[in-house]
Amino acid sequence: MAKPEILKCVLCGREFDPGSLTYTCPDCGPDGTLDVLYDYDEAKSRISRRTLSEDRTNTLWRYREILPVAEEENILPLSVGWTPLYRATSLADEYGIKELFVKDDGRNPTGSLKDRASAVGIAKALEFRQSSVACASTGNAASSLSGFAAVACLKSFIFVPQSAPAAKVAQLLVYGAEVILVKGDYEETFNLATAAIEKWGWYNRNCAINPYLVEGKKTCAMEIAEQLGWNVPDIVMVSVGDGCIISGIYKGFSDLLELGIIGSIPRIIGVQAEGASPLFDAVNGGLTKVKFGPADTIADSISVGAPRNWAKALRAVRNSRGDMVTVSDREILDAIPELARKTGVFAEPAAAASFAGFKKTAITGKIGTEARVAVIVTGNGLKDISSARKSVGKPLEVEPNIEELSKVLKPWI
Ligand SMILES: Cc1ncc(COP(=O)(O)O)c(C=O)c1O
Ligand SMILES: [Zn+2]
Repeated sequence: MAKPEILKCVLCGREFDPGSLTYTCPDCGPDGTLDVLYDYDEAKSRISRRTLSEDRTNTLWRYREILPVAEEENILPLSVGWTPLYRATSLADEYGIKELFVKDDGRNPTGSLKDRASAVGIAKALEFRQSSVACASTGNAASSLSGFAAVACLKSFIFVPQSAPAAKVAQLLVYGAEVILVKGDYEETFNLATAAIEKWGWYNRNCAINPYLVEGKKTCAMEIAEQLGWNVPDIVMVSVGDGCIISGIYKGFSDLLELGIIGSIPRIIGVQAEGASPLFDAVNGGLTKVKFGPADTIADSISVGAPRNWAKALRAVRNSRGDMVTVSDREILDAIPELARKTGVFAEPAAAASFAGFKKTAITGKIGTEARVAVIVTGNGLKDISSARKSVGKPLEVEPNIEELSKVLKPWI
């Protein structure tokens, strides 16, 4: 277990005591998200390539010595993390790169990478003796929080836009959350949740507000590095909405660098939908602050026009010499069956966007032939089957007799 040393504002550098329930920097407002920093020299004695090689923990808690959780009893029994990293040889050949890896984070308990954040977030809620937790979400953070809150016997208040896919809303209800379906977009949902959290004092699991959640997400990067024998890929591709996952990926690699476990940070390439691309616009336009804009894409989880964790996300891209790319809804839909058929990984639209972004970048020749690339699949395809159905044809319909079947199967037999 690790005790964070300080919380530090990403914009002005002001430092805060991790013992207090601080969310964002009061001087910088909600844009001033906080980094969770440790005494890395001290941590080196507890976590190294050697300790990890001897650790049999097959969850994200194998990185507990660099996670901000003080008491082991606050860790829930759900099995989060240590998801598979598949080598996709045929895709690597097809797109002309040396190696392609696919990290299947849809394998987490509630079906998305968000479980990494919830695992840490709920442990912190218990540590701070909170009885109710809340978040606004496009859907996955919500379904994740509701599952974890249920196991921890905490009350959860979950705000989702009315456009959230049915499977995600079903998950919330099944886990017993108080579900508030907001008649508005994600931005309006976020603002209503923020006002409610302030009014009723619930523990805030919004990832762009609560600094500890990015710490959970960073473990995805740590796993990629470890699963590749600490020989980090040249490029990591990840879908971007609010900017929390990409910030977590950068933090994971930079913590490993601070600990002397890896020697460099991969280039991190964020992928946004063409219809919701404020971070792409900021990187392309060389802006220091993100301009909020519209959000219109089939990929509901990244349908975010006002990315709340923009400061950390921009830093992740710039400090890693990475980039941002955009993909159309058509490219996202086409990526779903292609990824599934060539790797076995069924991704929801937002999660397939990272693969769509990889394809686009590789085709334009921006990824060298010697490059090793990891694509993160952030959510399971079963989360949104109505979009998945738009990406494929129809099944064959047949009367229940063999003659009829023979007619229908004629093209193949
Ligand atoms: C499946 C999936 N992919 C990507 C994202 C984008 O993550 P972030 O909002 O942290 O940028 C989300 C967020 O909801 C998600 O659920
Ligand atoms: Zn500040």
